Amino acid sequence: MTYRIATVGGDGVGPEVVEQGCRVLDRLAELDGFTTERVDYDLGGRRYLSTGEVLDDAVLEELRGFDAIYLGAVGAPDVPPGVLERGLLLKLRFAFDQYVNLRPVKLYPGVASPVAGLTPERCDFVCVRENTESVYAGAGGTLYRGTPHEVATQESVNTRHGVERVLRYSFEAARRRRGHLTLVHKTNVLSYAGDLWMRTFEEVGDADFPDVERAYVHVDAACLYFVTDPERFDVVVTENLFGDIITDLGAAVQGGLGFASSGNLDPTRTNPSMFEPVHGSAPDIAGTGRADPVAAVLSLGQLLDFVGEQRSAQRIDRAVGALLAERDGAVPDGVGYSTVDVGDRLVELVAEN
Ligand code: IPM
Ligand code: MN
Repeated sequence: MTYRIATVGGDGVGPEVVEQGCRVLDRLAELDGFTTERVDYDLGGRRYLSTGEVLDDAVLEELRGFDAIYLGAVGAPDVPPGVLERGLLLKLRFAFDQYVNLRPVKLYPGVASPVAGLTPERCDFVCVRENTESVYAGAGGTLYRGTPHEVATQESVNTRHGVERVLRYSFEAARRRRGHLTLVHKTNVLSYAGDLWMRTFEEVGDADFPDVERAYVHVDAACLYFVTDPERFDVVVTENLFGDIITDLGAAVQGGLGFASSGNLDPTRTNPSMFEPVHGSAPDIAGTGRADPVAAVLSLGQLLDFVGEQRSAQRIDRAVGALLAERDGAVPDGVGYSTVDVGDRLVELVAEN
């Protein structure tokens, strides 16, 4: 198989971590007998500041022709908030109908969780965040702006189609894991959206997934349980904004953003899916060799799993597990141990695993 992959290093530490990911990818291609064709795209804050362009339609159409997009991070200090978020990240998610944002929460052995006493056996679940609706749809408006009577509305859009498709994906994901799916919402207050989510959850579960065990947890309680009781979760599904928030909490529980990977998936495979570490561009440490490429490599693992290279994805999971166990809490400091050293070791470990 040959996979066409668009790489977007982006800003700050993004290009550094994607570079290590690509070295691991090349090794896996040799080991597991596939090839990749890669094209690098210069997108992000730096490019916006020098050209005024964020993501024009011609580039968007070119990206459509790839099997996957591998992205580092976008964001630069002088770019006003919202420009890259709406103009690049969300534009890609929406244009390519990447309706699933898949974010694993897995504590690897050797990683210190801020949750005292948490063990890897108790923390291994995935969050499925709906990725195209809710307040991210951008519905709402403002009236009398700048006056004492200013009104701002920000509406949450939820469609039966959008809710049902992400629930179906989640039920299927649960079936492939431990057979348990938790819906997270706030049905006690968000009565309209919550009602749509809950009814669809019950209907789809009863009709097509009677073998998957269901649970429901309010989002505030989910925050509590992520910390006190993560073993109650296998697959968690939730709407876009709740998913944004609780997956950062999940990242903290699994040891920090250095271990948080994500896939923005179009499960229909009509459009390319996009894989990115959850961490940002960290401009303060760019170029110092202190960026940890582990989250970018885990995102590559998600990419390979999605395109059908399960053996390679498994190698990444095991190699990262071995790396984190052997380095026992150490992170790149740019002096004795750097971004490239992590890449070197992972290139070795994928072959041994
Ligand atoms: C994320 C980020 C984005 C989001 C921002 C940068 C638009 O926080 O991927 O979680 O809110 O989805
Ligand atoms: Mn976020």
